Amino acid sequence: MTDAELFELAAAAAARAYAPYSNFSVGAALLDRDGRVWQGVNVENASYPLGICAERAAIARAVSEAGRRPGDFEAIAITASPCGGCRQWLVEFRLDHVVYKDNHGDIVAHAPDDLLPDSFEL
Ligand code: THU
Repeated sequence: MTDAELFELAAAAAARAYAPYSNFSVGAALLDRDGRVWQGVNVENASYPLGICAERAAIARAVSEAGRRPGDFEAIAITASPCGGCRQWLVEFRLDHVVYKDNHGDIVAHAPDDLLPDSFEL
């Protein structure tokens, strides 16, 4: 699957976001090594910090529904630049190829170390 195809799946998912507080819909499409794609969206809450980002929703689905683990994924596409907390999740799950629409509107691809250099590890 190309980066553009994976990004299109993320963009399609964004239409299902629940974002009544920010009005900022985000979609993610997570490609696992079996070729399966897990889509996720941001799901907000009236208690703002309890909302979940699209990429975390996608990863949580893959773990919950199929027992996926770090290293099981080929790539993820996100319709927005991943937030700091999500970058830590992307590092945890060893997402080597992260495609997203950057703050200039360009679709770019980065490795985790570019997104979160010298990241925290246990
Ligand atoms: N958001 C994501 O879903 N992913 C990110 O990496 C950046 C932020 C969501 C969270 C919130 O629902 C909305 O975008 C505005 O911050």
